[in-house]
Amino acid sequence: MTGHAVGEVVASADPAVPVGVTVLHESGWREYALLDAREVRVIDVDEVPATAWLGVLGLTGFTAWTGLTRVAQCQPGETVFVSAAAGAVGSTVVQLAKAMGCSVIASAGSERKLAYVRDELGADAVFSHRSESIRNALSHALEDAGQDGIDVYFDNVGGEQLEAAIRRMRKHGRIALCGAVSTYGKRTPGPGNLLLAIWRELRLEGFLVSSHERARPQFEQELTQALRTGAVRPVETVRGGGIEVAFDAFLAMLGGADLGKTIVQTG
Ligand SMILES: NC(=O)c1ccc[n+]([C@@H]2O[C@H](COP(=O)([O-])OP(=O)(O)OC[C@H]3O[C@@H](n4cnc5c(N)ncnc54)[C@H](OP(=O)(O)O)[C@@H]3O)[C@@H](O)[C@H]2O)c1
Repeated sequence: MTGHAVGEVVASADPAVPVGVTVLHESGWREYALLDAREVRVIDVDEVPATAWLGVLGLTGFTAWTGLTRVAQCQPGETVFVSAAAGAVGSTVVQLAKAMGCSVIASAGSERKLAYVRDELGADAVFSHRSESIRNALSHALEDAGQDGIDVYFDNVGGEQLEAAIRRMRKHGRIALCGAVSTYGKRTPGPGNLLLAIWRELRLEGFLVSSHERARPQFEQELTQALRTGAVRPVETVRGGGIEVAFDAFLAMLGGADLGKTIVQTG
């Protein structure tokens, strides 16, 4: 399975990557990796925990930052709605938006996650995507937050929540289409209210974080600083049990079992 991994160098023929340093690589889930030195990156784990390089400082954090700041071009003080808000990407979006002084509406699937996102991450209002009516639940959450509309929707799930968000977008609102986890493996019709995107002059933009690689140094600089000041914290669920549990951990993550980034400890 492809994916990022962090590990300690146990043997090396290249002085640039000496034994004992911690490295990040993208060569898949495994216990040991025999790699060219060019395929690994030595990471600093003195200031930032190694697992953060897989989550908040890694691909999922970069996705959150890219979608919020570069794609949706979120501005301080705006109203932001984020779905799958207790997940790896979503939990970073909530924290970044709060750090920008935004009002944040967040959705997730369980009471435990909703409480975490509201009480620990600072979301202004939350609702469950398991509510009988998502559109009513979103409206109530907007009322709770004292807002009459959304400027930025960070969409991790697609489907019904996307349609509900379009209905409450303000004029010139922006929707960053990051993922569509509610529709994976299904044939689902698109949102039935796209006409509103014309009337309200909305921008809906899909993005792949891999196309924003040149912005990664800026992201790492900003996020390292945010971690240092405590404006953003890593949110992760670490699962022990070795490489054998990786596949089940992946399915459990998709099913909503974990808070934040799912990390599998192989050693
Ligand atoms: N565009 C890019 O470049 C890029 C890069 C990385 C990831 N992504 C996408 O970003 C999204 C978030 O990724 P992630 O790694 O941070 O995953 P995640 O949010 O940690 O995990 C997925 C979460 O989706 C929620 N979910 C599952 N089924 C759902 C449904 N039917 N309706 C609503 N929510 C549902 C579950 O949370 P609940 O318990 O709250 O239901 C689950 O925990 C995914 O869609 C992923 O594909 C995109």
